[in-house]
Amino acid sequence: MKRTAIILTLTLYTLVGPANVQASDTERLVRTAQNVDLDRAHEIHMDSCFSCHGAEGLSTTPDTPRLAGQHFQYIAKQLDAFKTGRRASTVMQPWAKDLTEEEMLALGVYFNIKPSPAQRVRDTELAAVGRFIYHRGNEYSGVASCSACHGERGMGSDELPRLASQGTRYTETQLRLFSDRPRTADNEIMHTIASKLTELEIKAVAAYISSME
Ligand code: HEC
Ligand code: HEC
Repeated sequence: MKRTAIILTLTLYTLVGPANVQASDTERLVRTAQNVDLDRAHEIHMDSCFSCHGAEGLSTTPDTPRLAGQHFQYIAKQLDAFKTGRRASTVMQPWAKDLTEEEMLALGVYFNIKPSPAQRVRDTELAAVGRFIYHRGNEYSGVASCSACHGERGMGSDELPRLASQGTRYTETQLRLFSDRPRTADNEIMHTIASKLTELEIKAVAAYISSME
């Protein structure tokens, strides 16, 4: 099992790179921003999304993810997955079902350019355990380090979600969904990882992630 996790990590690593290609990410963001209708995105956000995701994309409930600062490609991809049901969510499906591809991209850019500051962690000792897991993984149970894919600073890349500053409850829930598999879209890699995390590790890594700038 341990071997599988390591091989999987290396395969993805060579596919997407070390996840710190921020300069080209920014260039792509700027280029895309010039070609999407941000006014339309703002209109959709104010009509449909803001009650849960918050006016600035920083979320209003612990179960709702922050969208601010998330990569636009990832947001568009997830919206499409909700629309088609590839990522099952009774909450999100009705909001995504009427969005066009252009609107999904515009919404992605709209949130991507908003800032997402780090959150305050109450239990710093728990977060310290999470810091270890995030950067080193758990070699005894074969958990790959999160930083290998999501980046040292948790900023993700075009292909991978940003994790830094995400709310603890949402991160914990997603790790459980990946582990038990109701998160249906593209879950192979994260399933392998999440299914090996203990409850303590899930709580710890989620606490650390929320504190990342
Ligand atoms: C009723 C509350 C609610 C509304 C309204 C809502 N969302 Fe969500 N959204 C959620 C919840 C809860 C999740 C987590 C779903 C899950 O994983 O099961 C989510 C997840 C998402 C995700 C995935 C984020 C990630 O990190 O994977 C995106 C993107 C998203 N919403 C965008 C939108 C957009 C755009 C709108 C408006 C068109 C919207 N949402 C409206 C509650 C809401
Ligand atoms: C081998 C690469 C890889 C490693 C290592 C990895 N991840 Fe992921 N992770 C991914 C990919 C790819 C996705 C996106 C899946 C998708 O498109 O739905 C993802 C998605 C996620 C998400 C969902 C984010 C969101 O906003 O919906 C969370 C949370 C997450 N990973 C946490 C972790 C944690 C915690 C670790 C370390 C214990 C970790 N990941 C290690 C590749 C990886």
